[in-house]
Amino acid sequence: MIPSSETIHDTMRFAPVSGLHGCVSVPGDKSITHRGILFGLIADGTTTVRHWLDAGDCRSSIRVARALGAEIAVEDDILTIRGTGGELREPDDVLDCGNSGTTIRLLLGILAGRVPFACLTGDASLRRRPMARVLSPLAQMGAQIIAREGKYAPLAVVGRALTGIEYRLPVASAQLKSAVLLAGLLAASGDTTVTEDKPTRNHTETMLRAFGAPLQEATVDGVHRVTVSAGGRLRGTEVVVPGDISSAAFILAAAAIVLDSEVTVAGVGLNATRTGFLEVLKRMGGQVRITNQRVVAGEPIGDVTVSSSGLSGTAIGGPEIPTLIDELPILAVLAAFAEGDTVVSDAEELRVKESDRIRAVVQGLTAIGVEAEERPDGFVVHGRGPKGVQGGVVNSFDDHRIAMSFAVAGLGSARGVELRNWSCVGISYPTFQDTLRNIGANV
Ligand code: S3P
Repeated sequence: MIPSSETIHDTMRFAPVSGLHGCVSVPGDKSITHRGILFGLIADGTTTVRHWLDAGDCRSSIRVARALGAEIAVEDDILTIRGTGGELREPDDVLDCGNSGTTIRLLLGILAGRVPFACLTGDASLRRRPMARVLSPLAQMGAQIIAREGKYAPLAVVGRALTGIEYRLPVASAQLKSAVLLAGLLAASGDTTVTEDKPTRNHTETMLRAFGAPLQEATVDGVHRVTVSAGGRLRGTEVVVPGDISSAAFILAAAAIVLDSEVTVAGVGLNATRTGFLEVLKRMGGQVRITNQRVVAGEPIGDVTVSSSGLSGTAIGGPEIPTLIDELPILAVLAAFAEGDTVVSDAEELRVKESDRIRAVVQGLTAIGVEAEERPDGFVVHGRGPKGVQGGVVNSFDDHRIAMSFAVAGLGSARGVELRNWSCVGISYPTFQDTLRNIGANV
């Protein structure tokens, strides 16, 4: 096959570097930006989202929110959204959610009880991702949704009056939890309670409260329970988005593995349901300092400084997995630069992310000269130590987090890493290379 010009040019090289230094900020949190847009869509009045993430995924949320009747003004750092008060417009075309799992799953919860008719789809990756996990509780509430092969997008929704349910999450997924809670809030009758054994990110709960939704929450013996009532209305509000810890993780990991480095990322979200990466980095021997801690718009934030140090392998699994689920690819790269083995378990969810991240991580590590093995629910990395990673050519599988993880590996490697299918970084961190340049990488 003759490659298209896009295939030829979509490659980026990350050369070895000595010493990264500086203080930078990272783009806004992706999960919080999505929620600001989608809650703004169903709220009464005006919502502003400050320091929103201007990247492919959140642009998908903006596109579908507009199609459903929200008026959205985009001004540099601030989104201003005039909401629909929950009276959604029937969209006149298919809603394209692009690459964004958060957009399509939260939207299902919003549409099921409210839209006369809507079709949803996404790119090739999103059309392979499991939707049955959302369709099943929504069907119990009375929703009518038809899916390709019963479980994949494209999906067709015919709005129905929904009734609240009690639901125990069968998979630790904040997207699923959020979809059920939103459907419960927009239902015609009853209370909806979601229980989770392995607590996932709680931005939906925090933000629903900020929008004035009545919500009861309790955590007993590690089990988290949230209840919302049908007919709850949201009031437009001001959302301030912290720096995305999932993006900061790449920059902080680069500082940990490139010798003679010290980098601060300022204004990073430090919600305890998201900080597993920092805990594991410390456990591996990473030098992590957190300063200037404060709470902004209900979310804890702070400045995080990491300096380079020797790392050792660790075991990652159990309830900490949801707190670092998106950081496992970059943790795999840290493990490659560590002494000893790192074992990741209980992370089968990685198989159904933007790519099969277990396979993508192991193939990437192998391509740069690091021994690694797949397991059904994770992987094992045999660390090569701080100077033992050679480098090579890595395929991102069109997955933004795989691309950035191996870019970081290139900075610490002996020969550099060439990334194939690089442009997917625009999904969550279009300015990634600028940040690297600002701390001294020669990108
Ligand atoms: C997200 C939740 C996580 C995460 C994703 C964003 C969210 O997915 O991997 O990047 O915004 O709720 P799951 O909830 O499906 O695990």
